[in-house]
Amino acid sequence: GAAELGPYRHFMQKEIFEQPRAIGDTLQGVEGISPELFGDGAYKVFKDIDSVLILACGTSYYAGCTAKYWLESIAGISTQVEIASEYRYRDSVPNPRSLVVTITQSGETADTLAALKHARSLGMEHTLTICNVATSAMVRECKLAYITRAGIEIGVASTKAFSTQLAGLFLLTLAIAQTRGRLSDAQEAEYLRAMRHLPVALQGVLALEPQIIAWSQDFAKKQNALFLGRGLHYPIALEGALKLKEISYIHAEAYPAGELKHGPLALVDSEMPVVTVAPNDALVDKLKSNMQEVKARGGELYVFADADSRIESEPGVHVIRMPEHYGALSPILHVVPLQLLAYHTACARGTDVDKPRNLAKSVTVE
Ligand code: G6P
Repeated sequence: GAAELGPYRHFMQKEIFEQPRAIGDTLQGVEGISPELFGDGAYKVFKDIDSVLILACGTSYYAGCTAKYWLESIAGISTQVEIASEYRYRDSVPNPRSLVVTITQSGETADTLAALKHARSLGMEHTLTICNVATSAMVRECKLAYITRAGIEIGVASTKAFSTQLAGLFLLTLAIAQTRGRLSDAQEAEYLRAMRHLPVALQGVLALEPQIIAWSQDFAKKQNALFLGRGLHYPIALEGALKLKEISYIHAEAYPAGELKHGPLALVDSEMPVVTVAPNDALVDKLKSNMQEVKARGGELYVFADADSRIESEPGVHVIRMPEHYGALSPILHVVPLQLLAYHTACARGTDVDKPRNLAKSVTVE
């Protein structure tokens, strides 16, 4: 009811604004990195594994795609991410030394549960879940777990569950890195400091809402949108496109920016807004040349840059500056303006934001 919504128009908006609290709660009590954050016996499991297999659906799958970048670069462990409904029905090569990680807000998604059981039936016994519901079937089924503390999520389009999953997956990355001797005490302290600062950093991002509302007025008139990102932020572009299509019903697609020339560039004209996730990381110069390709074809660019990205607004290029560059944890900040863009675009189009047509919060049947 209205009382629960407080000053917000929809649960989705409320949940977007709850993210500083949700991340703070998810990291509450984490004084240091250790495998035991994931349950008794985790050290032994992390010692035995030689790879990670992530299984999930929907937004949770995109959290897994982000984690792959972290796990391979920080923990140095080979990682595969697979959509649960694909994995459960295909012939695959089982590896008993792989850590099977399921990611699920509800802990009840039928395909993800079936994928876990399939992995187990193939002899994979090392199982761990990142889940938002401690009493769920998934938590009962997995040996190890990290419970995110997003709180109940009502909006069908997942927001705070996603960012808290990323926080849990980052902890998992650090715990595996530590077990493999790849995390110095100094690095551990630095990552913990950055994680503890996330709630404050998120407040700075949420303060961009008025600028995003202004953009949403243009977006509401579009039929299509492209989202671009590179590296760690490619999955964030995927998640931004998913949010937009789920609630505004605008057709949106995400591409790793380097793939632009292999197809999607043919779609770019003055009617195609191109949203670009452009943190100031090692790939920013490559991204700038991808943006040039869009501009040369008359596409309108909407860029989420960092304070120090040196990407300037000009005709055809709209820039919103994120308050600070956040290194490895940057995806947790960069997803927020994409959530807000989808939300306000949907509001401008008058759709049923919290209950988009044809979709369910939790898909417990196949
Ligand atoms: C549904 C929801 C999505 C969610 C997906 C996976 O499609 O609408 O928001 O990402 O299920 O749900 P899970 O509970 O497993 O994370």
